[in-house]
Amino acid sequence: MDKIMALAKRRGFIYQASEIYGGLSGFWDYGPLGAQLKKNLRDAWWEDVVLNPSGGRPGPNGEPVRVVPLDTSIIQHPKVWEASGHVAGFSDPMVDCRETQQRYRFDHVLVYAPASGDARGRPLLAFVPDTSSESRRRKQAEKAFGEVRTLPLAQLPRDEWSRVVAPDAERPGTLTEPRAFNLMFKTYVGATASEDDVAYLRPETAQGIFVQFKNVVDTTRVKLPFGIAQVGKAFRNEVTPRNFTFRSREFEQMEIEFFCHPSEARDWYAFWRDERMRWWRELGLAGENLQLRVHEPDELAHYAREGAGTADVEYRFPFTAPGFGELEGIAHRSSFDLAQHQQHSRSSLEYFDAERGELLPNGAHKGEKYLPHVIEPSAGLDRGVLAVLCEAYVEDAARASPELLLLSPRLAPIKAAIFPLVNKAGMPEVSEKLYRDVHRRFWRRGLIEHDVKQAIGKRYARMDEAGCPFCFTIDGQTLQDQTVTVRDRDSAQQKRIALGRVVSYLEERLGPE
Ligand code: GAP
Repeated sequence: MDKIMALAKRRGFIYQASEIYGGLSGFWDYGPLGAQLKKNLRDAWWEDVVLNPSGGRPGPNGEPVRVVPLDTSIIQHPKVWEASGHVAGFSDPMVDCRETQQRYRFDHVLVYAPASGDARGRPLLAFVPDTSSESRRRKQAEKAFGEVRTLPLAQLPRDEWSRVVAPDAERPGTLTEPRAFNLMFKTYVGATASEDDVAYLRPETAQGIFVQFKNVVDTTRVKLPFGIAQVGKAFRNEVTPRNFTFRSREFEQMEIEFFCHPSEARDWYAFWRDERMRWWRELGLAGENLQLRVHEPDELAHYAREGAGTADVEYRFPFTAPGFGELEGIAHRSSFDLAQHQQHSRSSLEYFDAERGELLPNGAHKGEKYLPHVIEPSAGLDRGVLAVLCEAYVEDAARASPELLLLSPRLAPIKAAIFPLVNKAGMPEVSEKLYRDVHRRFWRRGLIEHDVKQAIGKRYARMDEAGCPFCFTIDGQTLQDQTVTVRDRDSAQQKRIALGRVVSYLEERLGPE
């Protein structure tokens, strides 16, 4: 993972936020190539979810899938978060260390204890897996106990906590009782900043969709079943942000709330579960690094317990391997959220379905009023970018750039690069003109690079690291026969094509507008 992070920094994909001030834990900035890569992934989602849902394939009702977009505020009325359960329940139990002032998620802390025998009176060494405390504590524990076993802090009787040395502490007995720690970022609306003005940065984009459900139904011609899609920032004051952008405090979500009649929820859940898995696979996260994991009943969120279930699309990141980390969750939320907002706001959020209901004896049709059920495919954009980078990263010692990114042409931030072999002898003039032609045709699709300096091998190496799929080079032969070399990033092979064919060559490979 360190190598991928180094490349991401070196090529301007991802920087630490506020780096010149020492950084801010849990916050990341996207550099020029990262911002474009992220936009390409966001656009791919928007195109395949909003503009052309599921590529035109029909839903389980045999009709085209309907999804409309929405863009709601990051700050909502605080009652939204009371109704959604976030004020009362969006918290992790935490333990603090009185010696180091570090805070740990209670369920993340493990302790090393002797594998057998009597450990009374001896310190128990706590650590957090996947952090430096793990190997440090393991060495200490093996020295002290010989053979060791691990057990969760949560399973240790309270009267033994006085022997626990916290992950970063020297002395035993410094951990506090677990306390609930709300993950929402608090702020104040207005000038007085009193407790009456408290508001929260949204921890998910979903609630903005639920509270506008009625407006969307009343102001557009959508009819159930249909989805509302939104992409935007979400904020969580994660206790232990880690693994690069995987667990950040500010991140982007791509969420669909798909509303349907309760009797159709199972079919739509199965549809979206399979559809979202297919989407990530088609984007290039193929093979055994991607899996669909269906939640066990005891893992289900409170709103999903009664429903058809929850499944996660998971990717095997280098830091989770051999395990997997969540990319997207697909949950049947039943009518939990609409019911909550209906109750807290005292506004009816019921849907009147003119096509359902019964035929009255007088021949009139009655229609049916109900609270729709919701299927929610909720994906992380930043985690998506990270998975795409990890999947694309390849080492090839035989190349001038021993590391490269095999990004798909759809997602690659730089679509094509144009070089003169040398910056003289009439070549830059030809490459400049070719660049203008290619740019005019493809600027909507992504960056087009024109680079005249440095040895050609170094320019290719730079483009390999940036994941640029195609490089075109003007050389001495171009001036004689009007052909250029095109270098394919994946094979590093070059061939000659006519100068006048470059645009159509790219059209064939970058796909239609
Ligand atoms: N509305 C449902 C919801 O927010 P979630 O599983 O908490 O569900 C959905 O979040 C997705 O958002 C996750 O699958 C993940 O990709 C992304 N996500 C959640 N917390 C994140 C964090 N701290 N950093 C980066 N991405 C995160």
